[in-house]
Order: sequence, then C-alpha cells, then structure tokens
Amino acid sequence: MNAWSDARGPFPSTRLRRLRRHSWLRELTQEHRLAPADLIWPLFILPGSDQSEAIASMPGVGRHSIDRIVQQAEAAVRMGISAVALFPVTPPALKSPDGEESANPENLICTATRAIRQVVGDRLGIVCDVALDPYTSHGQDGLVRNGYVVNDETIAMLCQQAINQARAGCDCIAPSDMMDGRIVAIRSALDEASFHDVSILAYAAKYASAFYGPFREAVGSAKNLSGGDKKTYQMNPANTDEAIHEVALDLQEGADMVMVKPGMPYLDIVRRVHETFHVPVAVYQVSGEYAMLKAASQQGWLDERAAVLESLLGMKRAGASAILTYFAMDAAQWMNS
Ligand code: PBG
Repeated sequence: MNAWSDARGPFPSTRLRRLRRHSWLRELTQEHRLAPADLIWPLFILPGSDQSEAIASMPGVGRHSIDRIVQQAEAAVRMGISAVALFPVTPPALKSPDGEESANPENLICTATRAIRQVVGDRLGIVCDVALDPYTSHGQDGLVRNGYVVNDETIAMLCQQAINQARAGCDCIAPSDMMDGRIVAIRSALDEASFHDVSILAYAAKYASAFYGPFREAVGSAKNLSGGDKKTYQMNPANTDEAIHEVALDLQEGADMVMVKPGMPYLDIVRRVHETFHVPVAVYQVSGEYAMLKAASQQGWLDERAAVLESLLGMKRAGASAILTYFAMDAAQWMNS
C-alpha cells in the first residue's frame, strides 16, 4: 500500500466497486482496449482458382485459392484489420529436401502477394513468413544434414526466400524458423537488394509448442514431419530468461518488431519482453489455441464471442501491440458491432 492510498483510507471510504457500477463507467475507466487495427489475419493459400478446402482441426478456417484470398484481403480492409500473414499450401510434388520452391518467384506466396497488392494498394499490410517448412519434403524449417537441421546453410536459403518475397511486394518479412543469426543476414540481404523499407517481424521467442498441430495439418507439413519435432531450434517451453536473450539478439541484429509465440500460455513472456525492451511486440494466438476455443464454443461450453475477445484483450493487457489470430475477421466484426 502506498502513501496515497493510506491517506485516502481503506474500506469503507474506498470501494473499488463504485467504478464498476455502470457500463459507461466501466468503459470510461478501462485500461486497455482492443481494435481491429491490432489484428493480423493469417491465411492459407491453395493453388488454382475458385478453390477452398476445410481444415478439420480448425473449423471455420479454410485453405483458399488466390482469387478468394484476394477477396478476403479486401474484406479485411473493410473491417479495419491491419495486415494479413500469408502461408502457402505447397503441392507435395513441389516439395523437396532443400525446399527450393521457396525461392521460386512464381510460387504461391509470391503470386498471392502480387495479387493482393494490386487490389489493396497500401491499405493492408502483407506479412510473409520466412521458413522452409511449407516447402521441404521432411517438414523441417531448415536444411537437414545427417539428421540435424543445420543453421548457417539454412540461413542462405532464408535470405533468398526473403528477397523473393520482398520482390513480390510484401511489406514485412517474418522469419519463423528460429535459426541463430538469421535476422542480421536477412536484414543485410534486404538492404543490399535496396529493400531498406521492408521491415522484419522476428519470431524471436518461438517455443517448441504442442499448440502448432492444427497449423501443420493446414499447410500439409504434419505428414512430412511424421512425428519429428523442432526442439533443436525452437525454444524450450520451460524457459523465460532465454526469451529475453533471444529478443535482445534479434533486436541487435535489426528486427523492427518481435514476436512471442504461442500466445495464451506465454503471456508472462509477452509482459517481460514489453517491459524490458519497449519495442512493438506481436503475439501469435496459434492454431491450437484457435482449435481449443472453437471446439469448446461449438460444444456450447464457452460463449465464443466473449471468450475470444477476452483472450485477445488479455494479450493486449500483457503488452502486445499486434495480435496474429485466426479469429481476426470474427473478432473485428464483434468489435465493430
Ligand atoms: C513454421 C510456422 C509454424 C507456425 C507458423 N510458422 C509451425 C511450426 O513451427 O511448426 C505455427 C502457427 C500456428 O500454429 O498457428 N515455420
């Protein structure tokens, strides 16, 4: 208790319930607020046109061909969502051990980026993920040599991938691979190619989480990974100081924004990063979090709207300035209504 509250005196003169009595008063004294502009909407891209596929473990989220992705991007603009994050569903025939398709200027993510840009101009941010898992036949985020995901050789591929995506017109490169030193390498590669204004959102504190399962089904990498895990490069869920170390390095290396991932089980990390670095922090409400909230809502066990908005508000309260969420469109609609 501080001097000020001592001076005012405790109960019965102090009653915190006074400011909770009316809706207008609760709104007036609210510390944090959600807006559609806080949101980044992840989208899964299919080849072809006029195509959509359901994702069994993510009811309500689909994979869509580029023509439909463009329509979704336009809808996101109308809702006031800030950006989309693109993930390609690469046909198995185009996957290879070293993921060369990632550097193909005509690949799904680049083609989608150009198509979206043409329609939305600069009214919507386009975030492109950098990592090899959508392209590798083994489903790992990097190159595998003697059964191990090698760091430095992978970085060379990631730089090519980043340049390829920047050429297609993306605003922001988001490396999700967790190789050491990839941020400085990607920054230099972008600068050398004169992409000084393409920003980097580093998946800085990305944990080896069980909550990515539905995403791996969505992009079709689960089968490729066949029971393998990513523990030799993603972080140990038991660690918190290490997250600060990761973020510090990524910022030194040139990251403009940093991400914590997953979201809800890691809000302590969001808070620590926010308080330590005072830089924009993004948080990713990942596929498994979506699946949990959706499944319970479908069972009638949770009020979907209330539970989802509360989960997102919790992320803002923890210190996030941007939230990646598969609920982006629904949440924006709920906020706007
Ligand atoms: C892959 C990547 C993953 C996600 C985003 N980029 C999965 C993984 O690391 O296996 C997960 C997103 C989600 O679960 O919603 N580099």
